[in-house]
Amino acid sequence: MADKPILLLTRKLPEDVEARAVRDYDAILNNSDAQMRANDLIKGSKGVDAILTCSTEHFSAEVIENLAPSVKALATFSVGFEHIDVDAAKKRGLIATNTPDVLTDATADLTILLMLGATRRAYEWGRTIRQGKWGRWIATEKLGTDVNGKALGVYGMGRIGRAVAQRARGFGMEIHYHNRSRLTPELELGATYYADADAMLGQVDVLSINCPSTPETEKFLNADRIVMMKDGAIVLNSARGSIIVDDALIAALESGKLAAAGLDVFDGEPKLDPRYLTLENTFLMPHVGSATLETRNAMGFRALDNLDAIFAGREPGDRIA
Ligand code: DGY
Repeated sequence: MADKPILLLTRKLPEDVEARAVRDYDAILNNSDAQMRANDLIKGSKGVDAILTCSTEHFSAEVIENLAPSVKALATFSVGFEHIDVDAAKKRGLIATNTPDVLTDATADLTILLMLGATRRAYEWGRTIRQGKWGRWIATEKLGTDVNGKALGVYGMGRIGRAVAQRARGFGMEIHYHNRSRLTPELELGATYYADADAMLGQVDVLSINCPSTPETEKFLNADRIVMMKDGAIVLNSARGSIIVDDALIAALESGKLAAAGLDVFDGEPKLDPRYLTLENTFLMPHVGSATLETRNAMGFRALDNLDAIFAGREPGDRIA
């Protein structure tokens, strides 16, 4: 029997995913789950045929150029792939893949959690009960806002944006969206399209950011655009922190221009602007959009499906380079 390809896993992955990797590959596991920096990736690639990575490892042009010549494939356990220099991978002839689709529902569910957490002041109420401050019932205390009948603006109507819209319709929300191109009527499902994202901002009560991080979307939500939004609007971000200018969002949350924000992703995470932590009107999660066992397993299996295809001489389903 031919030798199994050698596969380096840069992070610890769910048990069933690692079991399949060990069954089908000569797998090098990262049992300590220590994060691998540039030098670790370069050194660790020696004699390896493929790498299964996460979004925590950065495959810059320099890292990619210095990977051992044996490395043929790089599969990322994520839908986002801004941590991989795709041009450098193409230049080196490295096949790279991601894991779209399988985390759509989990990420959309989390976005709804952000929306309800932000609109219903979940951080403040959660703290009240945990601190034993649940006192007499007061009709006017810490009131949130309904989502039923409100307008949701989705910035980036790809798979996740559409899944957020589908859930929001169930809450009685009206859907508006911006996307690079207009969706077909079957996908749009009556949502209002704005070719110019700025034109949408003043029309919506809740803005949900669901686009990938690209040079075009980076720093999209800046001070000028926040001014265009309705007073008291709410911002949600389950995509990437780089799409928001933190200074601008924090100033708007402090002044009350925006009522609240529900954020799962942060620029420079896991470090985040500490001012977010002191604001009462933020509902914060630590980048856990895909953090369910079913979804993390599906991501791992999808990454392995891509690698299996590559080593069987077939085109992988989710090629990004
Ligand atoms: C993804 O898959 O892109 C998630 O955000 C995890 O990085």
